[in-house]
Amino acid sequence: MTPTKKRLAILGSTGSIGTQTLDIVRAFPDEFRVVGLAARRSLALLEEQVREFSPSLFSCEGTSHEKESILSQGCRECALDDMASHPDVDMLVTATTGDVALAPTCAAIEAGKDVALANKETVVMAGEIVTGLAARHGTAILPLDSEPNAIWQCMRGEAPEVNRLIITGSGGALRDTPIDRLADVTPADALKHPTWRMGAKITVDSATLMNKAFEVIEARWLFGVPWDDIEIVIHPQSVVHSLVEFLDGSVKAQMGQPDMRLPIQCALFHPRRVRNGNLPKLDLPRTGTLTFAEWDPERYPCFNLAIEVARRGGTWPAALCGADEAAVEMFLAGNIGFTEIADLIQESLAGHSDVPDPSIPDTIAAAKSAMARARAAAL
Ligand SMILES: NC(=O)c1ccc[n+]([C@@H]2O[C@H](COP(=O)([O-])OP(=O)(O)OC[C@H]3O[C@@H](n4cnc5c(N)ncnc54)[C@H](OP(=O)(O)O)[C@@H]3O)[C@@H](O)[C@H]2O)c1
Repeated sequence: MTPTKKRLAILGSTGSIGTQTLDIVRAFPDEFRVVGLAARRSLALLEEQVREFSPSLFSCEGTSHEKESILSQGCRECALDDMASHPDVDMLVTATTGDVALAPTCAAIEAGKDVALANKETVVMAGEIVTGLAARHGTAILPLDSEPNAIWQCMRGEAPEVNRLIITGSGGALRDTPIDRLADVTPADALKHPTWRMGAKITVDSATLMNKAFEVIEARWLFGVPWDDIEIVIHPQSVVHSLVEFLDGSVKAQMGQPDMRLPIQCALFHPRRVRNGNLPKLDLPRTGTLTFAEWDPERYPCFNLAIEVARRGGTWPAALCGADEAAVEMFLAGNIGFTEIADLIQESLAGHSDVPDPSIPDTIAAAKSAMARARAAAL
Protein backbone atom coordinates (compact mmCIF):
# COMPACT_ATOMS: atom_id res chain seq x y z
CA MET A 1 0.00 0.00 0.00
CA THR A 2 1.36 3.47 -0.87
CA PRO A 3 1.96 5.46 2.31
CA THR A 4 0.18 8.81 2.68
CA LYS A 5 2.59 11.53 1.67
CA LYS A 6 3.56 14.15 4.23
CA ARG A 7 2.61 17.53 2.75
CA LEU A 8 5.22 20.25 3.25
CA ALA A 9 5.39 24.03 3.08
CA ILE A 10 9.01 25.23 2.95
CA LEU A 11 9.77 28.85 3.83
CA GLY A 12 13.20 29.80 2.48
CA SER A 13 13.31 27.05 -0.15
CA THR A 14 16.07 28.75 -2.18
CA GLY A 15 18.60 28.98 0.67
CA SER A 16 21.12 26.54 2.10
CA ILE A 17 18.64 24.66 4.33
CA GLY A 18 15.76 25.02 1.86
CA THR A 19 17.65 23.43 -1.04
CA GLN A 20 18.94 20.62 1.19
CA THR A 21 15.39 19.99 2.41
CA LEU A 22 14.36 19.63 -1.23
CA ASP A 23 17.27 17.17 -1.72
CA ILE A 24 15.64 14.93 0.90
CA VAL A 25 12.20 15.36 -0.69
CA ARG A 26 13.72 14.50 -4.09
CA ALA A 27 15.23 11.31 -2.64
CA PHE A 28 11.84 10.17 -1.27
CA PRO A 29 9.15 11.02 -3.84
CA ASP A 30 6.71 8.53 -2.27
CA GLU A 31 7.02 10.08 1.19
CA PHE A 32 6.65 13.83 0.68
CA ARG A 33 4.63 16.25 -1.41
CA VAL A 34 5.57 19.93 -1.61
CA VAL A 35 2.48 22.11 -1.22
CA GLY A 36 4.11 25.52 -0.72
CA LEU A 37 7.46 27.16 -1.48
CA ALA A 38 8.57 30.60 -0.33
CA ALA A 39 11.64 32.71 -1.04
CA ARG A 40 12.41 36.40 -1.17
CA ARG A 41 14.28 37.42 -4.31
CA SER A 42 15.79 34.27 -5.88
CA LEU A 43 13.02 34.07 -8.45
CA ALA A 44 14.90 32.05 -11.07
CA LEU A 45 15.66 29.26 -8.58
CA LEU A 46 12.16 29.43 -7.12
CA GLU A 47 10.71 29.04 -10.59
CA GLU A 48 12.91 25.98 -11.21
CA GLN A 49 11.72 24.50 -7.91
CA VAL A 50 8.07 25.18 -8.78
CA ARG A 51 8.63 23.44 -12.13
CA GLU A 52 10.16 20.40 -10.43
CA PHE A 53 7.91 20.03 -7.35
CA SER A 54 4.60 21.50 -8.62
CA PRO A 55 3.47 23.14 -5.36
CA SER A 56 0.04 24.78 -5.41
CA LEU A 57 1.22 27.82 -3.36
CA PHE A 58 4.22 30.16 -3.54
CA SER A 59 5.43 33.41 -2.05
CA CYS A 60 8.22 35.79 -3.07
CA GLU A 61 8.96 39.45 -3.61
CA GLY A 62 8.91 41.00 -7.09
CA THR A 63 6.57 42.47 -9.68
CA SER A 64 3.71 40.49 -11.25
CA HIS A 65 5.74 40.53 -14.46
CA GLU A 66 8.66 38.85 -12.65
CA LYS A 67 6.32 36.26 -11.15
CA GLU A 68 4.56 35.53 -14.43
CA SER A 69 6.44 32.32 -15.22
CA ILE A 70 5.60 30.91 -11.76
CA LEU A 71 1.94 31.93 -11.99
CA SER A 72 1.71 30.44 -15.48
CA GLN A 73 2.44 27.02 -13.96
CA GLY A 74 -0.84 27.18 -12.05
CA CYS A 75 0.83 28.04 -8.72
CA ARG A 76 -1.09 30.54 -6.57
CA GLU A 77 0.58 33.39 -4.69
CA CYS A 78 -0.06 33.29 -0.97
CA ALA A 79 1.01 35.17 2.19
CA LEU A 80 3.46 33.27 4.42
CA ASP A 81 0.99 32.97 7.32
CA ASP A 82 -1.69 31.58 4.99
CA MET A 83 0.73 29.10 3.46
CA ALA A 84 1.91 27.95 6.89
CA SER A 85 -1.64 27.35 8.14
CA HIS A 86 -3.15 26.08 4.87
CA PRO A 87 -5.38 22.98 5.30
CA ASP A 88 -3.31 21.08 2.69
CA VAL A 89 -0.10 21.43 4.73
CA ASP A 90 0.93 18.81 7.31
CA MET A 91 4.34 20.20 8.24
CA LEU A 92 5.94 23.63 8.02
CA VAL A 93 9.70 23.82 7.41
CA THR A 94 11.13 27.18 8.48
CA ALA A 95 14.38 27.83 6.59
CA THR A 96 14.31 31.61 6.25
CA THR A 97 16.82 33.92 7.90
CA GLY A 98 15.83 36.64 10.40
CA ASP A 99 12.45 37.26 12.02
CA VAL A 100 10.20 36.51 9.05
CA ALA A 101 9.39 32.94 10.14
CA LEU A 102 8.05 33.88 13.58
CA ALA A 103 4.47 34.85 12.64
CA PRO A 104 4.03 31.94 10.14
CA THR A 105 5.35 29.50 12.75
CA CYS A 106 2.71 30.71 15.23
CA ALA A 107 0.04 30.50 12.50
CA ALA A 108 1.08 26.92 11.68
CA ILE A 109 1.02 25.86 15.35
CA GLU A 110 -2.39 27.44 15.88
CA ALA A 111 -3.64 25.47 12.86
CA GLY A 112 -2.31 22.24 14.42
CA LYS A 113 0.72 21.72 12.14
CA ASP A 114 4.06 20.31 13.20
CA VAL A 115 7.01 22.62 12.55
CA ALA A 116 10.48 21.49 11.45
CA LEU A 117 12.44 24.41 12.74
CA ALA A 118 15.74 25.52 11.19
CA ASN A 119 15.16 29.22 11.77
CA LYS A 120 16.65 29.61 15.22
CA GLU A 121 15.65 33.30 15.45
CA THR A 122 12.03 32.16 15.95
CA VAL A 123 12.85 30.49 19.27
CA VAL A 124 15.53 33.00 20.26
CA MET A 125 13.08 35.89 19.89
CA ALA A 126 9.99 34.25 21.32
CA GLY A 127 10.95 30.86 22.79
CA GLU A 128 8.54 31.01 25.69
CA ILE A 129 5.60 32.08 23.52
CA VAL A 130 6.23 29.60 20.72
CA THR A 131 6.86 26.57 22.94
CA GLY A 132 3.83 27.49 25.11
CA LEU A 133 1.67 27.76 22.00
CA ALA A 134 2.87 24.38 20.71
CA ALA A 135 2.12 22.76 24.09
CA ARG A 136 -1.41 24.23 24.11
CA HIS A 137 -2.14 23.10 20.55
CA GLY A 138 -0.50 19.68 20.94
CA THR A 139 1.85 20.21 17.98
CA ALA A 140 5.50 19.25 17.74
CA ILE A 141 8.45 21.56 17.16
CA LEU A 142 11.03 19.33 15.51
CA PRO A 143 14.52 20.83 15.73
CA LEU A 144 16.23 20.74 12.38
CA ASP A 145 19.25 22.80 13.41
CA SER A 146 22.07 20.25 13.91
CA GLU A 147 22.90 20.90 17.59
CA PRO A 148 19.33 21.09 18.96
CA ASN A 149 18.54 18.14 16.71
CA ALA A 150 21.43 16.22 18.30
CA ILE A 151 20.16 17.00 21.82
CA TRP A 152 16.66 15.98 20.79
CA GLN A 153 17.98 12.66 19.46
CA CYS A 154 19.96 12.04 22.68
CA MET A 155 16.88 12.75 24.81
CA ARG A 156 14.55 10.50 22.85
CA GLY A 157 13.30 7.68 25.02
CA GLU A 158 14.76 9.23 28.18
CA ALA A 159 12.90 10.59 31.18
CA PRO A 160 13.69 14.30 31.45
CA GLU A 161 16.38 13.75 34.09
CA VAL A 162 19.04 15.91 32.52
CA ASN A 163 22.03 17.17 34.42
CA ARG A 164 23.66 19.19 31.65
CA LEU A 165 23.50 19.92 27.93
CA ILE A 166 26.84 20.33 26.14
CA ILE A 167 26.55 22.08 22.80
CA THR A 168 29.50 21.78 20.45
CA GLY A 169 30.71 24.40 17.98
CA SER A 170 33.53 24.47 15.46
CA GLY A 171 34.63 27.95 16.58
CA GLY A 172 33.92 29.36 13.12
CA ALA A 173 36.10 30.64 10.31
CA LEU A 174 38.33 32.84 12.48
CA ARG A 175 38.98 30.33 15.24
CA ASP A 176 42.75 30.32 14.57
CA THR A 177 43.18 33.98 13.60
CA PRO A 178 45.31 35.81 16.19
CA ILE A 179 43.01 38.00 18.32
CA ASP A 180 44.99 41.16 17.49
CA ARG A 181 44.32 40.54 13.76
CA LEU A 182 40.53 40.11 14.07
CA ALA A 183 39.89 43.83 13.54
CA ASP A 184 41.31 43.55 10.00
CA VAL A 185 39.53 40.44 8.73
CA THR A 186 37.33 40.82 5.66
CA PRO A 187 33.82 39.42 5.09
CA ALA A 188 35.42 36.86 2.74
CA ASP A 189 37.66 35.65 5.61
CA ALA A 190 34.68 35.34 7.99
CA LEU A 191 32.66 33.42 5.40
CA LYS A 192 35.24 30.61 5.02
CA HIS A 193 33.64 28.21 7.48
CA PRO A 194 35.93 25.25 8.19
CA THR A 195 33.28 22.49 8.27
CA TRP A 196 29.78 23.65 7.25
CA ARG A 197 28.48 25.29 4.04
CA MET A 198 25.74 27.67 5.16
CA GLY A 199 24.13 31.02 4.35
CA ALA A 200 26.17 34.20 4.96
CA LYS A 201 24.36 35.36 8.13
CA ILE A 202 24.79 32.13 10.09
CA THR A 203 28.40 31.77 8.89
CA VAL A 204 29.31 35.17 10.35
CA ASP A 205 27.32 34.30 13.50
CA SER A 206 29.49 31.18 13.76
CA ALA A 207 32.65 33.30 13.60
CA THR A 208 31.41 35.56 16.45
CA LEU A 209 29.92 32.61 18.38
CA MET A 210 26.55 34.40 18.34
CA ASN A 211 25.30 31.27 16.60
CA LYS A 212 26.27 29.17 19.65
CA ALA A 213 24.54 31.67 21.96
CA PHE A 214 21.41 31.33 19.80
CA GLU A 215 21.62 27.53 20.15
CA VAL A 216 21.91 27.81 23.94
CA ILE A 217 18.77 29.99 23.93
CA GLU A 218 17.03 27.53 21.58
CA ALA A 219 17.97 24.62 23.88
CA ARG A 220 16.75 26.52 26.94
CA TRP A 221 13.24 26.78 25.46
CA LEU A 222 12.98 23.63 23.36
CA PHE A 223 14.16 21.31 26.15
CA GLY A 224 13.20 23.31 29.25
CA VAL A 225 16.73 23.04 30.71
CA PRO A 226 17.82 25.86 33.09
CA TRP A 227 20.35 28.37 31.70
CA ASP A 228 23.09 27.31 34.11
CA ASP A 229 22.89 23.69 32.95
CA ILE A 230 23.75 24.46 29.31
CA GLU A 231 27.41 24.70 28.29
CA ILE A 232 29.30 25.04 25.06
CA VAL A 233 32.59 23.52 23.97
CA ILE A 234 34.75 24.10 20.90
CA HIS A 235 34.97 20.98 18.74
CA PRO A 236 36.76 21.82 15.46
CA GLN A 237 35.88 18.60 13.62
CA SER A 238 32.05 19.11 13.93
CA VAL A 239 31.47 15.35 14.25
CA VAL A 240 29.97 15.29 17.75
CA HIS A 241 26.95 17.55 17.28
CA SER A 242 26.05 17.85 20.98
CA LEU A 243 25.87 15.85 24.19
CA VAL A 244 23.47 15.30 27.06
CA GLU A 245 24.60 14.38 30.56
CA PHE A 246 21.96 12.61 32.65
CA LEU A 247 21.57 12.68 36.44
CA ASP A 248 23.60 9.49 36.92
CA GLY A 249 26.56 11.04 35.05
CA SER A 250 26.05 9.03 31.84
CA VAL A 251 26.62 11.10 28.73
CA LYS A 252 25.03 10.49 25.34
CA ALA A 253 26.47 12.13 22.23
CA GLN A 254 24.99 12.32 18.75
CA MET A 255 27.58 11.98 16.00
CA GLY A 256 27.67 12.13 12.23
CA GLN A 257 29.41 13.79 9.32
CA PRO A 258 28.83 17.57 9.20
CA ASP A 259 26.03 17.43 6.63
CA MET A 260 22.75 19.25 7.32
CA ARG A 261 20.77 16.71 5.31
CA LEU A 262 21.15 14.28 8.26
CA PRO A 263 19.23 16.40 10.82
CA ILE A 264 16.84 17.57 8.08
CA GLN A 265 15.94 13.98 7.19
CA CYS A 266 15.65 13.08 10.89
CA ALA A 267 13.14 15.90 11.49
CA LEU A 268 11.13 15.34 8.30
CA PHE A 269 10.72 11.62 8.94
CA HIS A 270 10.15 11.83 12.68
CA PRO A 271 9.55 9.39 14.36
CA ARG A 272 10.87 7.02 11.67
CA ARG A 273 14.49 6.34 10.69
CA VAL A 274 15.00 5.66 6.98
CA ARG A 275 18.03 4.54 4.99
CA ASN A 276 19.35 7.14 2.52
CA GLY A 277 22.30 6.09 0.37
CA ASN A 278 23.01 9.73 -0.59
CA LEU A 279 24.02 10.71 2.95
CA PRO A 280 27.65 10.44 4.11
CA LYS A 281 28.48 7.77 6.70
CA LEU A 282 30.76 8.36 9.66
CA ASP A 283 34.12 6.64 9.19
CA LEU A 284 35.89 6.96 12.54
CA PRO A 285 39.40 5.73 11.53
CA ARG A 286 39.42 8.20 8.62
CA THR A 287 38.01 10.98 10.79
CA GLY A 288 40.97 10.55 13.15
CA THR A 289 41.30 12.50 16.37
CA LEU A 290 38.34 14.34 17.83
CA THR A 291 39.31 17.31 20.00
CA PHE A 292 37.44 19.53 22.47
CA ALA A 293 38.51 22.84 23.97
CA GLU A 294 37.17 25.63 26.15
CA TRP A 295 35.95 28.73 24.35
CA ASP A 296 37.76 32.04 24.85
CA PRO A 297 35.56 34.99 26.02
CA GLU A 298 38.15 37.48 24.75
CA ARG A 299 37.95 36.08 21.20
CA TYR A 300 34.16 35.80 21.25
CA PRO A 301 32.64 38.76 23.19
CA CYS A 302 29.23 38.25 21.52
CA PHE A 303 28.58 34.99 23.41
CA ASN A 304 28.37 36.29 26.99
CA LEU A 305 26.68 39.48 25.79
CA ALA A 306 23.93 37.44 24.10
CA ILE A 307 23.33 35.07 27.01
CA GLU A 308 23.21 37.88 29.54
CA VAL A 309 20.67 39.77 27.40
CA ALA A 310 18.54 36.68 26.67
CA ARG A 311 18.31 35.84 30.37
CA ARG A 312 16.59 39.19 30.99
CA GLY A 313 13.53 37.90 29.08
CA GLY A 314 10.75 40.20 27.83
CA THR A 315 11.62 41.66 24.43
CA TRP A 316 15.39 41.65 25.10
CA PRO A 317 16.10 38.48 23.09
CA ALA A 318 14.15 39.88 20.13
CA ALA A 319 16.15 43.10 20.30
CA LEU A 320 19.32 40.98 20.41
CA CYS A 321 18.27 39.18 17.22
CA GLY A 322 17.45 42.41 15.42
CA ALA A 323 20.68 44.12 16.51
CA ASP A 324 22.74 41.09 15.45
CA GLU A 325 21.03 40.84 12.08
CA ALA A 326 21.80 44.49 11.30
CA ALA A 327 25.35 44.27 12.68
CA VAL A 328 26.14 41.25 10.47
CA GLU A 329 24.55 43.00 7.48
CA MET A 330 26.74 46.08 8.16
CA PHE A 331 29.86 43.96 8.47
CA LEU A 332 29.10 42.10 5.21
CA ALA A 333 28.49 45.44 3.47
CA GLY A 334 31.89 46.72 4.65
CA ASN A 335 30.43 49.44 6.88
CA ILE A 336 31.97 48.11 10.10
CA GLY A 337 34.88 45.85 10.99
CA PHE A 338 34.52 42.35 12.44
CA THR A 339 35.37 43.38 16.00
CA GLU A 340 32.79 46.19 15.82
CA ILE A 341 29.92 43.69 15.52
CA ALA A 342 29.71 43.23 19.31
CA ASP A 343 30.05 47.01 19.88
CA LEU A 344 27.24 47.79 17.46
CA ILE A 345 24.94 45.20 19.05
CA GLN A 346 25.66 46.69 22.46
CA GLU A 347 25.00 50.21 21.19
CA SER A 348 21.67 49.18 19.69
CA LEU A 349 20.64 47.34 22.86
CA ALA A 350 21.44 50.42 24.97
CA GLY A 351 18.43 52.10 23.30
CA HIS A 352 16.02 49.21 23.92
CA SER A 353 12.91 49.68 26.10
CA ASP A 354 11.71 46.32 27.36
CA VAL A 355 8.13 45.10 27.11
CA PRO A 356 7.58 42.49 29.85
CA ASP A 357 5.33 39.55 28.96
CA PRO A 358 5.33 40.55 25.28
CA SER A 359 2.98 39.54 22.47
CA ILE A 360 4.28 38.39 19.07
CA PRO A 361 3.75 41.91 17.57
CA ASP A 362 5.73 43.39 20.55
CA THR A 363 8.49 40.89 19.85
CA ILE A 364 8.66 41.68 16.14
CA ALA A 365 8.56 45.43 16.85
CA ALA A 366 11.47 45.10 19.30
CA ALA A 367 13.57 43.28 16.71
CA LYS A 368 12.76 45.85 14.00
CA SER A 369 13.62 48.83 16.25
CA ALA A 370 16.89 47.25 17.34
CA MET A 371 17.72 46.61 13.70
CA ALA A 372 16.96 50.22 12.77
CA ARG A 373 19.06 51.57 15.66
CA ALA A 374 22.03 49.40 14.68
CA ARG A 375 21.79 50.42 11.02
CA ALA A 376 21.53 54.10 11.93
CA ALA A 377 24.53 53.84 14.25
CA ALA A 378 26.67 52.15 11.59
CA LEU A 379 25.89 54.45 8.66
N1 LIG B 1 22.61 26.74 6.68
C1 LIG B 1 22.73 25.92 7.69
O1 LIG B 1 23.48 24.94 7.62
C2 LIG B 1 21.92 26.13 8.94
C3 LIG B 1 22.10 25.26 10.02
C4 LIG B 1 21.30 25.42 11.14
C5 LIG B 1 20.36 26.42 11.20
N2 LIG B 1 20.24 27.28 10.15
C6 LIG B 1 19.24 28.36 10.25
O2 LIG B 1 18.35 28.21 9.16
C7 LIG B 1 17.91 29.49 8.69
C8 LIG B 1 18.25 29.61 7.20
O3 LIG B 1 19.67 29.60 7.07
P1 LIG B 1 20.36 29.42 5.65
O4 LIG B 1 21.80 29.28 5.93
O5 LIG B 1 19.65 28.37 4.86
O6 LIG B 1 20.08 30.86 5.01
P2 LIG B 1 20.23 31.31 3.49
O7 LIG B 1 21.03 30.35 2.71
O8 LIG B 1 20.66 32.73 3.52
O9 LIG B 1 18.72 31.22 2.94
C9 LIG B 1 17.70 32.02 3.45
C10 LIG B 1 16.40 31.69 2.75
O10 LIG B 1 15.35 32.49 3.30
C11 LIG B 1 14.69 33.20 2.23
N3 LIG B 1 14.18 34.45 2.75
C12 LIG B 1 14.86 35.44 3.38
N4 LIG B 1 14.01 36.43 3.71
C13 LIG B 1 12.76 36.04 3.31
C14 LIG B 1 11.47 36.62 3.34
N5 LIG B 1 11.29 37.84 3.88
N6 LIG B 1 10.43 35.92 2.84
C15 LIG B 1 10.60 34.70 2.31
N7 LIG B 1 11.82 34.09 2.21
C16 LIG B 1 12.87 34.77 2.70
C17 LIG B 1 15.77 33.36 1.18
O11 LIG B 1 15.20 33.67 -0.09
P3 LIG B 1 16.09 34.31 -1.27
O12 LIG B 1 17.05 33.24 -1.72
O13 LIG B 1 15.10 34.62 -2.30
O14 LIG B 1 16.79 35.50 -0.68
C18 LIG B 1 16.41 31.98 1.24
O15 LIG B 1 15.57 31.06 0.59
C19 LIG B 1 18.61 30.52 9.57
O16 LIG B 1 17.77 30.92 10.62
C20 LIG B 1 19.81 29.76 10.12
O17 LIG B 1 20.24 30.25 11.38
C21 LIG B 1 20.98 27.16 9.04
